[in-house]
Amino acid sequence: MSRQEITFTPDASASLDTIINQAQPDRLFLLCDKTTERLCRPLLAQCSALADANLISIPSGDLSKEITTVGMVWTALVQHGATRRSLLVNLGGGMVTDLGGFAASTFKRGIRFINIPTTLLAQVDASVGGKTGINWMGLKNEVGVFQNALHVLIDTHFLATLDDENMRSGYAEMLKHGLISNQDHWQELMRFDLDKPDLKALLPLIQRSVGVKQDIVLQDPTEKGLRKALNFGHTLGHAIESLAMENDSPILHGRAVAWGMLGELYLSHRRLGFPLPLMRQATDYIIGHYGRCPIECRQYDRIVKLMGHDKKNHDGHIFCTLLSNIGKIELDQRLDTDEIKEALDFMREGV
Ligand SMILES: NC(=O)c1ccc[n+]([C@@H]2O[C@H](COP(=O)([O-])OP(=O)(O)OC[C@H]3O[C@@H](n4cnc5c(N)ncnc54)[C@H](O)[C@@H]3O)[C@@H](O)[C@H]2O)c1
Ligand SMILES: [Zn+2]
Repeated sequence: MSRQEITFTPDASASLDTIINQAQPDRLFLLCDKTTERLCRPLLAQCSALADANLISIPSGDLSKEITTVGMVWTALVQHGATRRSLLVNLGGGMVTDLGGFAASTFKRGIRFINIPTTLLAQVDASVGGKTGINWMGLKNEVGVFQNALHVLIDTHFLATLDDENMRSGYAEMLKHGLISNQDHWQELMRFDLDKPDLKALLPLIQRSVGVKQDIVLQDPTEKGLRKALNFGHTLGHAIESLAMENDSPILHGRAVAWGMLGELYLSHRRLGFPLPLMRQATDYIIGHYGRCPIECRQYDRIVKLMGHDKKNHDGHIFCTLLSNIGKIELDQRLDTDEIKEALDFMREGV
């Protein structure tokens, strides 16, 4: 897979005009969810190339990320005469870019698509890296294909309408990219005021954050090894996310990852000597912006069990990515139950 074309722009309309004019599609389609149709589409009003596009609008939320909705997209493409020279523009969060990318990659064995991510999580994570897909039988991202977008267009103006919880969720993935990359990027993330986000100042941080993901994906596009670094915080995080779902009080993915990083930083320190001052800085920031993880001791066994369901495990053991320092990645660390429980204590109490 070659390096993904990405444009970071303060003017998405103008950039999109250029990209569409270069791509010369015979027909153009714009995929939104109901929310991004209302809040984000107006920001592309100046894009003249988009004036004749056929709009496909799907319900918002991850429950829509399923095969019936893909069917709606395929139907709209057929009804409006899409060919292999047509182009689909995905305007939305990770739900829209994952589903739109999958619908495009499978329609007529693959048509081109452009991602315009409108949530922070999609800008730094979901819209880049070539993973597309949908949920199936209640399992997240169970069906999908690897396919790069023709182009990804990132403009922080879209984030002006995003709620605080979704901003924090996306920022957690940026923190992860900081921890797995280098000190300079990590320290600039620590200086950003997440309580009063300045969207202009955020654009260069997003640019570097995406660069971290791109570098890793380029070395390991199909997740055979290094790409597992992107899973830092996710082994514990996914289990916390699933537990919250089971208890009918779902939390956003990034918040769960932030808490997961607390535990995995603790394990990184205990096992691999991740430096204490950096661990303190990271945990203070996470607890300050995401709070402590609201779990109880009686839930520990269930959490360990949920961790065992992770796709990345093998041979009945739980594996995880840890760090011996910022940017020093140690893959496939096998965890035992006692140390997981210690990490859960740390996530709960943060001492
Ligand atoms: N492909 C990948 O590598 C990858 C990586 C991470 C996550 N994902 C997927 O991404 C999805 C999560 O992405 P998400 O958090 O962006 O979810 P999402 O797309 O569901 O967006 C969250 C909510 O924000 C709304 N929204 C979107 N843009 C907005 C804006 N600018 N202003 C106001 N509201 C806006 C959406 O309508 C939705 O209600 C999951 O399905 C996950 O599996 C994929
Ligand atoms: Zn994630």
